[in-house]
Amino acid sequence: MAQRETFGSRFSIIMAMAGSAIGLGNIWRFPYTVGEGGGAAFIIVYLVSTLLLTMPVFMAESIIGRTAQAGTFGAMQKLAPGSKWKWMGFLTVITPLIIVSYYSVVGGWSFGYLLKALTFSFNADAVDSIGGMFSRFTTSAWTPIVCHTVFLGSTCLIVLRGVKKGIEKFASITMPLLFVLILIIMVYSISLPGASAGLEYMLKPDFSKLDGKTIASAMGQSFFTLSLGTGSILTYASYVKKDENILISGLGTAGFDLLFAMIAGFAVMPAVFAAGIEPGAGPGLVFETLPYIFAKMGADAPWLSAAISILFFASILFAALTSSISMIEVGVAYLVEEKKMTRGRSVLLLFLGCWALGVICSLSFGPLAGISLLGKTIFEFCDSLTSDYLMAFGGLLFILFAGWKMSKATVREELTCFGKSKLNVALFPLLYFLIRYVAPFGIIAIFITNLIW
Ligand code: TRP
Repeated sequence: MAQRETFGSRFSIIMAMAGSAIGLGNIWRFPYTVGEGGGAAFIIVYLVSTLLLTMPVFMAESIIGRTAQAGTFGAMQKLAPGSKWKWMGFLTVITPLIIVSYYSVVGGWSFGYLLKALTFSFNADAVDSIGGMFSRFTTSAWTPIVCHTVFLGSTCLIVLRGVKKGIEKFASITMPLLFVLILIIMVYSISLPGASAGLEYMLKPDFSKLDGKTIASAMGQSFFTLSLGTGSILTYASYVKKDENILISGLGTAGFDLLFAMIAGFAVMPAVFAAGIEPGAGPGLVFETLPYIFAKMGADAPWLSAAISILFFASILFAALTSSISMIEVGVAYLVEEKKMTRGRSVLLLFLGCWALGVICSLSFGPLAGISLLGKTIFEFCDSLTSDYLMAFGGLLFILFAGWKMSKATVREELTCFGKSKLNVALFPLLYFLIRYVAPFGIIAIFITNLIW
């Protein structure tokens, strides 16, 4: 049997995992959720929820993936043969494939907007027409589908090249680049007159906004942004070498993700306020308000405006690509390991399936806007089904599996580098308590809150 591929170094593990984690969730979801949830007060809740609830799930996925040396379905089958857990594994193969279908539509928009930036469409003459540009773009039938096809196709080509030559290489180059790009944009954004209102929106603590709903939204954001509950992290962990300290790579990934989300917040919000725009939810924030700012800026400094808009949309595109490859890889691991398909065929099959669902999601902004499922468009339905329910449910299953099904000895070996890391050995009782009790009960409590609120 061919030897299983592994990541080359700790740097590349963290880049690949951070590549999966850092994506559209950081750039448009985080800044907005923070502002809505009470600024700094929300960030505190978010940190607590990440440490107590989501980091344990991150560890559980890492432990399961690396012990089993298999993707999510195979891992459940290997570690609990003949049990019903296999079907849980199956569920978590499906979730990321639904996500990638609609994620690719938004990824396609970033590609489309990068092309617009490259052709200087956000110029001073366009200021008045920019408001309608986004809705004209998304409601038209063909252009977004072509963009979705290009985005999903690129994702699949990277995945096709495999773990080392494709995923690792791509993430190790684009992630540091992305970091530099977004820093440049942040500096520019903070220097705009009137930017301080945006900083205040992100940072001023407003404890009156903290209620059950906000706590649930902090947990939801934490799950989404760390790609948890869907087997993406589990699958990547199965390519991590046995001597790697998974506690450190997990904390490193979560740390980078948070840092990036904060920088993205400081890049987006000050610019939004400087332009006197109400911060709104969803992709509109990035695709409607920022082009408007670029266009205004174009009146004084056309070249600077063109350069910044190109950098900005290229950053979003890279961030989205390193996330979508982690979703496709879950399906590829399943088809290659369980169905014994070649990598090429698996990628092709997934491309076709996700492409078709993505086309329907894309059309649900235009020609299919009238079709509703439980009061939502098809796009909104896929988003809500996965991020409100399937991810938390998947995360709960993983943590129950690691905490209650796997033996304590195996969990200890994995978490302490087989007893070699003294710090991890000392922390183990606390970590195991979080995995076994705190996180599962916390997730269930929040799940129920979400259902009844
Ligand atoms: N974490 C990514 C983001 O913030 C999205 C993502 C990647 C994801 N892989 C995932 C979301 C798996 C859910 C499941 O944009």
